[in-house]
Amino acid sequence: MLKDNKFIVWGTYCECGNECSILQNENHPWIDTSFTIKMKCNKCGKSLMIDKESAEEFYNNKIYSYYNDLYGKIIDLGCGSGFLSRFLINQNKIEKIYGLDFDTQCKKDLADIDKRKFQFIEADINELDGYFGSGSVDFLVSRDVFMFIEDTDKYFEDVTKFVNKGVRQMGWYMEENTRMKNKLKPEQIAEEYVKRGWKVKLEYLDWYKYGYFIRANK
Ligand SMILES: C[S@@+](CC[C@H](N)C(=O)[O-])C[C@H]1O[C@@H](n2cnc3c(N)ncnc32)[C@H](O)[C@@H]1O
Ligand SMILES: [Zn+2]
Repeated sequence: MLKDNKFIVWGTYCECGNECSILQNENHPWIDTSFTIKMKCNKCGKSLMIDKESAEEFYNNKIYSYYNDLYGKIIDLGCGSGFLSRFLINQNKIEKIYGLDFDTQCKKDLADIDKRKFQFIEADINELDGYFGSGSVDFLVSRDVFMFIEDTDKYFEDVTKFVNKGVRQMGWYMEENTRMKNKLKPEQIAEEYVKRGWKVKLEYLDWYKYGYFIRANK
């Protein structure tokens, strides 16, 4: 069942190594805010301040922890300015990352990324099949992109053809949000993968506003 989670995690790492975090419903660590949280580490008792900077680092690392079992050739679907690609590029088992996005601004935003392992493809998700042949990539990763896909049937068919090993998809679902181009609920997305022979694990994320994560393997 869809979880109506309005919370975002704010956290930091204590000097003792403990992760200290709290869920809150107002301030996102990526929005400019002077909001800070004072907490006591529940392991060593030290007082900690969680400001925007430490919250952002903690939040990013939490996202990245869902993308650390990958290898081979990867497509970062709707890569934007490379939030996921910039993390994946440092992993030795990853050979090549194809960042695909239709926004012309991305090329500029990605100017500083190491091109030995990364290639930007300026294209629409609807044209995926024109760029990737059968079984040509090992994993597809995406974050906050699926809800912008109009022809979801074509997406599932294409991805099933060209992805060899797995899909790692993080996103949000808000019923009333007018920016969404499709209204597939996370459990319906999971079902669409299952229909095409994928083994799927759907997780609702209590720390990511309206968030879910789908891990699909062949
Ligand atoms: C919310 S951003 C997420 C960017 C990146 N994945 C991240 O984690 O920061 C969504 C991205 O999807 C891209 N996008 C949306 N619809 C697309 C489409 N039909 N084809 C290609 N890219 C698309 C947008 O241009 C944007 O860069
Ligand atoms: Zn501590």
